[in-house]
Amino acid sequence: MIDASATPVPAKGPRARITAVTSGKGGVGKTFMAANLAAALSRRGERVLVLDADLGLANLDVVLNLHPKITLHDVFTGKRELEDAILPAPGGFSVLLAGSGLVEYSRLTPEVREQLLGVIEKVAPRFDRILLDTGAGISDVVLYAVSLADEVMVVATPEPTSLTDAYATIKVLASQQQRRVIKLVVNQTSRMAEGRVIRAQLQQVVDRYVSNGTDTPLKLELLGDVPMDNAVREAVQKRQLLLETIPGCEAAKAVGAIADKLIA
Ligand SMILES: Nc1ncnc2c1ncn2[C@@H]1O[C@H](COP(=O)(O)OP(=O)(O)OP(=O)(O)O)[C@@H](O)[C@H]1O
Ligand SMILES: [Mg+2]
Repeated sequence: MIDASATPVPAKGPRARITAVTSGKGGVGKTFMAANLAAALSRRGERVLVLDADLGLANLDVVLNLHPKITLHDVFTGKRELEDAILPAPGGFSVLLAGSGLVEYSRLTPEVREQLLGVIEKVAPRFDRILLDTGAGISDVVLYAVSLADEVMVVATPEPTSLTDAYATIKVLASQQQRRVIKLVVNQTSRMAEGRVIRAQLQQVVDRYVSNGTDTPLKLELLGDVPMDNAVREAVQKRQLLLETIPGCEAAKAVGAIADKLIA
C-alpha cells in the first residue's frame, strides 16, 4: 500500500500558497466554494490557479462552463504540455482541469503521485495561491492531494452525516499529516451563527478524541459560514460564477468574507 501521508511541499523561494478544499461527505459545496473563492481572491489582487484534484471525476469545468480540450490527464500521459492545459476562467483566475470517468485515478499509483507533485511544483512559482479542489472522503488520492497543500479547508454542511464525515477527515489529517490547524467552512447554513456552534461542537470532539494526550492540540479555525441560498443553485444550473451573476446575494457576500479572512 502506498503511503499518502507525505509532508507538505517545502517552500523554495516565492511560490503560491496552496490551499486544499476538501470534505468528508460529497456534494457539500467544495467545487462551488473553490471556483467562487478563486474569483473573490482574484478580485482582491491575487494570481489564483484552481486545480481540479478530483482527477477521475472532475466537476470544475462544469461549474465554470468550460469545455476543455486539454486536461491534466493529457499532461500526465505526456500527450500535451502543461502550458497548454492552464486555461483562463471567467472569474479572472486560471484553471487546470481534470477528466471525468477516468478509473485510473481512483487509486494512488506512484505515477499519479509523481505527476501531480511535478505539476504543482512547476506552477507554484507563477501564482500567489493555488486552490486544490479535491474529491470527497479519505481515499489515498484525496489524502495525497491534501498533503501537498500548505493549509486545508474542510467544507461541511450542518447535516449530521456531513459532520460525522468531516470529523473523520479531520482525524485522519491530524494523525497522517500532523495537521495542527484545520480551517473550516460551514456551507448551506440555515441559522445565524450556525458555523460557530458547529465549529465548537467539532472542536470539543477533536479535543477529546484527537488532541487528548498530545502536546500540540489541533485547532479548528472557522473561516466562515455560507447560507443555504437558492442563488447558488441557480448559478450552478446556469454554469456561472455566483460572484459574477448575483454578487449581492448573501452566499456571495459570505464567500467574499471568507476570501478576506483567508488573505488576512
Ligand atoms: N450555499 C449553498 N446554497 C444552496 N445550494 C448549494 C450551496 N452550496 C452548494 N449548493 C448546491 O450543492 C451542489 C453541490 O455542490 P458542489 O458540486 O460544489 O459540491 P462538491 O462538494 O464539490 O461535490 P463533490 O463531492 O461531488 O465534488 C451545487 O450544485 C449546488 O446546487
Ligand atoms: Mg466537487
